[in-house]
Amino acid sequence: MKLKKLCAFLAAGMLALSLVACTDGNTTATSAESQADSSKAESDAAPTESKGSKIGISMPTKSLERWNRDGSYLEKEFTKAGYEVSLTYSDNKIDQQVKDIEGLIADKVNLLVVAAIDGESLAQVLAEAKSQNIPVIAYDRLIMNTDAISYYVSFDNYTVGKLQGEFVAEKLDLANAGDKKFNIEFTGGDPADNNATFFFNGAMDVIKPYIESGTVVVPSGQTTFEQVGTAQWDTAKALSRFQNILGSYYSDGTQLDAALCSNDSTALGVTQAIQSDYAGTNEVVITGQDGDEANLANIIDGKQTMTVYKAVANEAIATLDLGAAILNNEKPDASLIEKSGWSFDCTYDTSSYDNGAAVIPSYLLVPVTVTKDNIQKELVDTGYYTMGSDGYPHPVQ
Ligand code: GAL
Repeated sequence: MKLKKLCAFLAAGMLALSLVACTDGNTTATSAESQADSSKAESDAAPTESKGSKIGISMPTKSLERWNRDGSYLEKEFTKAGYEVSLTYSDNKIDQQVKDIEGLIADKVNLLVVAAIDGESLAQVLAEAKSQNIPVIAYDRLIMNTDAISYYVSFDNYTVGKLQGEFVAEKLDLANAGDKKFNIEFTGGDPADNNATFFFNGAMDVIKPYIESGTVVVPSGQTTFEQVGTAQWDTAKALSRFQNILGSYYSDGTQLDAALCSNDSTALGVTQAIQSDYAGTNEVVITGQDGDEANLANIIDGKQTMTVYKAVANEAIATLDLGAAILNNEKPDASLIEKSGWSFDCTYDTSSYDNGAAVIPSYLLVPVTVTKDNIQKELVDTGYYTMGSDGYPHPVQ
C-alpha cells in the first residue's frame, strides 16, 4: 500500500521511469484492502468526466447473505470513486424489483447495475432504461431476452459447478472405486436464475461418467436440473425436499455418501435435514458456494465439507472499472482487464453467455474451493473475513 502511494507521488512528479518500476512491484498485491486500493488508484487515474454521475444498484434480496456483501462492496467502491449511489433490495419479489428499477430510472441514474431475481422478468423495465440511454450491467446473474444490457460481470459459473463435482469425485476417490458404489443426491438452485443451470451442468459433467459406469448411484433417481431445482435458493425448501428424499430412499439404512448442493443457502437446508433425518453415521460430503457465515461455521465444525468462494469484493471492483469506462464513453473490451491493473484473475468472454437477444460480453472472475484446511489462507489472510474469538470466520464488510 505504501508502495502504491509512493507510486502516485512519483507519478505526480512526472517520473515516468520510476512509475513503471512501482507499477510492476504492485502487481503482487493480494489482500482485499490492497486490491481495493489499487483499483481506486486506477479509477482516480481514469478520465473524470463521469465523476458525480448517479449509479443505480438493484440487488435481489437481503435474505440470502451474499447479496448484503455485494451491495455494500458495490456501494463502497462507487462512492469512494466519486459517484452518487442508490442501492435497492427487492425482497426476492419480482414485482418489487421492477418497481425499484423504475424508481432508479425516474431518479435519472446514469448507469444501472442489476442482479436479477428472475432473469426473464426485466425485459420491459430495461427497455425503458434503454430508451433513456441508461446503460445496464448485468451483475452476477445474466438478464435474459433483452438487448438493453451491454455487459455481464460475474464469476465463471460453469467452473463453480465443476469445482463442486471435482471435489466430490476426489473426496470419494471415484476414479479408483473399483467395484465400490457411492450414493449421491443433487440439490440445484433457482430455475429462474440463469446461473443455476451452469452450476448444475458443471457438477453433472464431472459426475455423469461415474453414474453411467455404475460407480455413482442416485437412489432418488433425481438427476435432471428440473428435478433438483430449489425455487429462490430457499433453505427451507431445500430442507423439506431433502427430508423427503432421506425418508423415501435412505430410511432402510442405505448410506448417503455425498450431497452435491449448488450453493450455501441450499446446503444449509440439506445439512439440517441430514442432522435431523439421516440415520447413518458416516461423514456425508456436502458442497456449497458463497462462504456464508453459517456454512463456514459448519465447515469448521465438520458438518459441511466445502464451499466455492467467489470474492465479491473483486466483483465490485471489476463492476466499478467497467461502469466508469462505459460512463466515459469508452467501448470496454478485453483490454479493460490489463488497463485496470486488477490483482485478481479475470477473463473476457464473448461466447458463453447468450441471453436470447445477443451474446453478452462478459467479465468472469475465478472462483476457489474452500475447505477447513484453507479457510485461513483463502478467506482470512486475504482480508475478506476475520477469525473471531469464537473460532469462526466472520465477513468484513
Ligand atoms: C446465484 C449466485 C450464487 C448464489 C445464489 C443465491 O445467482 O451466483 O452465488 O448466491 O445466486 O443467491
